[in-house]
Amino acid sequence: MFKSQLLRQVARAAQAQAPRAAFRPSQPIASSTRQFSHSPYRFDKEPYRDDVDAATTSGEPGESGDHEGQYARTKENIRVEYPEEEDLPPSQPVQGRGGFHFKRTLASFSLEGRVGVVTGGARGLGLVMAQALVTSGADVAIVDMNRDEAQRSAQGLIDIYKNENPGSDKIPKVTAHFCDVSSPTSVNQSLAEILKEHGKVDNLVTSAGFTENYDAISYPYDRMQKLWGVNVDGTYLYAVAVAKHLMERSAPGSIVMIGSMSGSIVNVPQPQAPYNAAKAAVRHLASSLAVEWAHAGIRVNCISPGYMLTALTKKILDDNPELQRQWTSLIPVGKMGRPEDLMGAVTFLSSDASLYVTGADLRVDGAYTCT
Ligand SMILES: NC(=O)c1ccc[n+]([C@@H]2O[C@H](COP(=O)([O-])OP(=O)(O)OC[C@H]3O[C@@H](n4cnc5c(N)ncnc54)[C@H](O)[C@@H]3O)[C@@H](O)[C@H]2O)c1
Repeated sequence: MFKSQLLRQVARAAQAQAPRAAFRPSQPIASSTRQFSHSPYRFDKEPYRDDVDAATTSGEPGESGDHEGQYARTKENIRVEYPEEEDLPPSQPVQGRGGFHFKRTLASFSLEGRVGVVTGGARGLGLVMAQALVTSGADVAIVDMNRDEAQRSAQGLIDIYKNENPGSDKIPKVTAHFCDVSSPTSVNQSLAEILKEHGKVDNLVTSAGFTENYDAISYPYDRMQKLWGVNVDGTYLYAVAVAKHLMERSAPGSIVMIGSMSGSIVNVPQPQAPYNAAKAAVRHLASSLAVEWAHAGIRVNCISPGYMLTALTKKILDDNPELQRQWTSLIPVGKMGRPEDLMGAVTFLSSDASLYVTGADLRVDGAYTCT
């Protein structure tokens, strides 16, 4: 390395580590080539300050332009409240993804003979994951706060199955059950109802959850508690109820918790600290319970989706086109995911194809969290 280059790098490193008050040191920087010299090199003088230096901690805030930190910060003025029940758009099951086929595939991916519960299965990602379980051979119980939507969706799954599998001799059983997953009583009541109708449960997918955008200072406390109640308590309560049932039956099982990439990164520009923390909790809950229940053959994994285009996110983005531009510019794949992009992931983790996978976090995010 040239001597002048080395000097410049040493100078930059020293400046980068210095606290802001010492941005322009009056003392010279020691280097192997200028040991303890008292020569008057000052870093606020040419040739040591240029446009690139101004972009480091040696520059004052804003010195290299208005763009500083622009795509890496949350913005307080972005506020999105989770809509009231009557304002939530319904979702449709996916068309053309089911049906028997005669392509070779691993038998261990089949869920034939299993019963799966999907919380939050009335719409969005939960509905499509419920469809993946049905398509892969399982009977399914949809659990949701919205009883009517859950019933419509359960019927929709049966109708699509019949459509795509004409002549099938066994029609899957798909039922709908009311539950507020944040209430222990409601969780136990709904599971008892499911056991009455299906006789057993082998699989659980916890998709009930929601997000909201408020800056932390303004976040209404009651809404924050509700958010944690559904996303964290709800996941925990249903997992414990199903694990207890599996242990009583001495049966193995698989639990898939729906976290989010927000459990590992901080989204920008929309502020959502409580949601991010809730999803980090879900991810670590999956690891913790995987260890705790490994002895019983109960596997617990997490799926962390990135930005998925559900009916609800579509509505948010239609109202905020700038948000869509920023989101897609931050995804290495360049596109948001579709709910059906989770069908393979949830089938893999629910089936024997993943028998030795437990405590894992499967990110389905177009490489968002890699950057
Ligand atoms: N959509 C995305 O981009 C995205 C990305 C990452 C993670 N996620 C997570 O995936 C899960 C599903 O999200 P979605 O986009 O499908 O949302 P959604 O709003 O479309 O569906 C969520 C479902 O959960 C139900 N629900 C809400 N509160 C409930 C409660 N207390 N008890 C029972 N059911 C309740 C709702 O009625 C709804 O049917 C959530 O946990 C969400 O945080 C979504």
